Amino acid sequence: MRAHPAGPLHADVVADHASVARPTSADELNRLSPAVWPTGAHRNADGALEIGGVDVRDAVSAFGSPLFLFDEDDLRTRARRYRTAYVDAGARLVYYAAKAFLSTTVARWVTEEGLGIDVASGGELAVALRAGVPGDRLLMHGNNKSMAEIEAAVEAGVGRIVIDSFEDIVRIADAAGRAGVVQPVLVRVTLGVGAHTRVFIATAHEDQKFGLSVASGAAEEAVRRIAKLPSLDLMGLHSHIGSQIFDAAGFQVAAARVVTVAQRIWDEQGIEIEELNLGGGMGIAYLESDDPLDVPDMALQIGDIVGKECAAAGIPMPALAFEPGRAIVDVSVDGGMSDNIRTALYDAEYSVTLASRASKAEPVLCRVVGKHCESGDIVVRDAWLPADISPGDLLAVAATGAYCRSMASNYNYLPRPAVVSARAGELAVVLRRETLDDLLQLDPGA
Ligand SMILES: Cc1ncc(COP(=O)(O)O)c(C=O)c1O
Repeated sequence: MRAHPAGPLHADVVADHASVARPTSADELNRLSPAVWPTGAHRNADGALEIGGVDVRDAVSAFGSPLFLFDEDDLRTRARRYRTAYVDAGARLVYYAAKAFLSTTVARWVTEEGLGIDVASGGELAVALRAGVPGDRLLMHGNNKSMAEIEAAVEAGVGRIVIDSFEDIVRIADAAGRAGVVQPVLVRVTLGVGAHTRVFIATAHEDQKFGLSVASGAAEEAVRRIAKLPSLDLMGLHSHIGSQIFDAAGFQVAAARVVTVAQRIWDEQGIEIEELNLGGGMGIAYLESDDPLDVPDMALQIGDIVGKECAAAGIPMPALAFEPGRAIVDVSVDGGMSDNIRTALYDAEYSVTLASRASKAEPVLCRVVGKHCESGDIVVRDAWLPADISPGDLLAVAATGAYCRSMASNYNYLPRPAVVSARAGELAVVLRRETLDDLLQLDPGA
């Protein structure tokens, strides 16, 4: 059975099962869990959702729907919380993982809050530089960096380039040599530890495309080759085990394995691993039932684990670095698979609420689907929404700041939505809405 369309979305009533519990009262149905929604998000006297002091109905009137809406203060607070907690736990620098979402505005905010930025392409590098982020606060990733991307990074004086392959070593050494600089690098190691959505798996094999294998000896061979190249400065090792990590257990296994590698490099090659970057993946609450560890607790536990492993291995404690992405950005959206592919792609779960008003109607178990020509075009698989949702109502989906706009597509020729920020009752454009003209400009025959 199909319920009433709400804005550009459709809420299908699903009868079979619920992964989320049925609200027992209208108050519970309208409640905004602080675990999921930005700090300060509330319903105003009309029952409408307010974020950053802005009524979402006003945001949609001004910028259209679907819309990504950031709470600037919430984002800055998260950035500060991560920087402080991880620096206290021994981090030299905490990088914001720009792949979660990047624009010049967000690059400036996180830089002002003391974070570096991890960029994964020449495009992300260009945005960060355009925002005025100093090169030495940037770190560049990429499993297949082009020569042009490497040259741009070297020219910008990027603080770290993460080596992902033997080709990277040759290319980065060449670019740095030609530029007459010594480029600091990290070697990304694959450890056979993977984390994704609350489970982590530790195996002896490494079935993924990133990094140099520890098991095969490739990681240590990379260190050997880098040490011979005068235009490269090996700062240390990098490991990223995955996403939505809710406790320190995954990091514990990764840290134990990476410290073993550092010890072998010290024993066999006499090279000290001075910096250890443990990547991102710190989990956030998409659902009220998600329960990530407190930020300082997680930071302290990880710092403690690395300290103990190094003491046991008899090697000096390296400086740490981290790359949280989704834990920094958190916004709300309505739309379909072109602006939120995560549900279709890997069954991501979200919290959704009726944003334009509160309702006393009975909760109905719904599936929030988009407008695309795909049966997998699902935004929220299971959600309790009031039965009286009707055309023109607005739905808001929490925690869509990370990996939604950045993975957005123009499928079905839908222009990508605007991104706006709200602060103290004021709205500001972070990225303007794409227009059909923007898309037609790509077509020389149009
Ligand atoms: C190397 C690296 N660092 C950091 C991140 C950020 O992860 P998250 O947003 O889960 O914190 C990613 C995400 O894919 C990554 O690949």
